[in-house]
This record gives sequence, structure tokens and C-alpha cells, in this order.
Amino acid sequence: METVWLNGKYMPLSEGNVSLEDRGLLFADGVYEVIAAYNGVPFILDEHLERMIRSADGIRLESPHTTDVRRQVIHDLVTRLGVSRAMIYGQLTRGSSRRSHPLPKAPTPTEYWFARELPPVVTKNYREGVHLITQPEERWARCWIKSTSLLPNVLAKQAALDVGAFDSLYVLEDGVITETSAANCYIVRDGNIFTHPANGRILGGCKRALVMELARRAGIGVHEEFIPLDQAREAEEMFITSTTLNVLPVTTLDDNPISNGRVGPITGRLMEAVGDAIREKCGEIVMA
Ligand SMILES: Cc1ncc(COP(=O)(O)O)c(C=O)c1O
Repeated sequence: METVWLNGKYMPLSEGNVSLEDRGLLFADGVYEVIAAYNGVPFILDEHLERMIRSADGIRLESPHTTDVRRQVIHDLVTRLGVSRAMIYGQLTRGSSRRSHPLPKAPTPTEYWFARELPPVVTKNYREGVHLITQPEERWARCWIKSTSLLPNVLAKQAALDVGAFDSLYVLEDGVITETSAANCYIVRDGNIFTHPANGRILGGCKRALVMELARRAGIGVHEEFIPLDQAREAEEMFITSTTLNVLPVTTLDDNPISNGRVGPITGRLMEAVGDAIREKCGEIVMA
């Protein structure tokens, strides 16, 4: 049975309820986090919890619970779930109040967390790489906030699925690529990795920070730069990262192969490095 912790109480997930006037529901006035856990050990938990506070600050929402409370809740949820690979979802909204745009003076935030088993890893995607399509960037300029306002992301993901691709890669009006609907994006050029700077146009992924650190440690150059789409098309390699995907190779962009259309060596090294980092912190894991 899946359990939710909602505003301080544990209950079956199916019994958790929020008000119809919750501002999360009315205005997507909220932020969220997704954390992966292996063998019951949440991976890079502090980084995720710190980002949740930054996101909440970004929407002028004071956190109703401390990081210690959240850490304990997450620990309890993964322990109760008892599976080897889990994802933990947490959402914090400005709570329920009479529908009106201005921020309520004394909000009662809604916060909930639940854990769920991760779906099996699609090993073919990691062996062969995935296909991305490009889509105009149409999100707001505060993508650094992990906001629950994800409709553009949902539609971009579906547009990709509709044509048999894995995800959409956003392209700004000036031709610069940003990220996909749910992951950060990188190219490899001259053996170095390049990714969009962590400004307002992308979410600063926790896995992104880790991958950049692991790459540097492995002697691979890391550059945060604006990447024009035509450069991305000429890349030696391309990959994306997120909490649940880890490092996923991209071998096709808009029906054209990236380089020779195979998973490249730098991507392979980073896939291994992330696997090692997870094993080091969480122990041996069965990936599929
Ligand atoms: C838009 C977007 N960019 C990037 C990421 C990757 O962030 P993280 O590595 O923290 O999961 C996500 C994660 O869901 C995302 O939704």
C-alpha cells in the first residue's frame, strides 16, 4: 500500500485529499521535488531539500516544515515502501483560501510527500540512446523554480511521444537549446561537455550538478555555455540527465543521428560514474 504524509499525518495515498480551493489546484501556486532512493537510501537528499527551499523562496512561500522533518518523513516513507528502487514526490503549495489572485496574508500551506516504486529501467534506451525532437521554448523565464506549473512541459512531452520520440528539446527564439521537458541536456564537443548555464531558462538539476562534478573529477572539461541548435546537431555526443533517468544517451535529434548514431564514450563514462556514485552512497542496486 502506498502511503502519503499530508500536512503532518500519514495515511493511505488514496485517502489523501486537498481542498478544491487549494492554490496549487487553482493557480499551480506551488513547488515540488522528486528524489530517487536505492535500497531505502535517498540519493543526494540534501541537495533536493535545499532546492525545495530555494524554489519556495522563489514564489515567496515560507516553508511550513523544517528540513529535518522532511528528511525524517522521506526516510519513513521509503522504509515503509521497502523496495530497492523508489522515487519520492513532495509538493508544497500556498494552501487553501478563497479564490483570489493576491497572495493570502497568512497562508496555511499544503505539503505532502509519497514514495512509489520506480518503473523498471528501459535498458534499450541506455544501450541505443533515445530520440529527441525540438520544440519552441514557451515556458516562463523562471524555470530555475521547480514549479508545479508544468502544462508546457506536459504538452512538449506528449508532442514527442506522438511521433515516437522520447522527449522534446526546447529551443529559444534565438536558436539556443535549453533542456527537455523533464531533464537537462548536454552535448560533447572536442571531448568536453557543454550545457546551458543555470540561469532562469533551465531547472538547475541535482543530477546536473553531480554529473558536472563527476566529469570534472574524471578530467573531462565542463562548460556552461549557450548552445545553438546547429551546434547541437553537429555534436559528437548528446545526453540528458535527471533524478530518475540518471545519464541517458541521445542518439537521434529530429530524425537525424547525432554523430554516428551510437552511444558515445564520454556519455558511457558518465553513465558509469553516476552508477558508481549511487552504489557508493546507497549500496549495490538492481537496475532493471
Ligand atoms: C524541466 C526539468 N529540467 C531538469 C530536470 C532535472 O532535474 P533533477 O536532476 O534535479 O531531477 C527536471 C527534473 O524533473 C526537470 O523537470
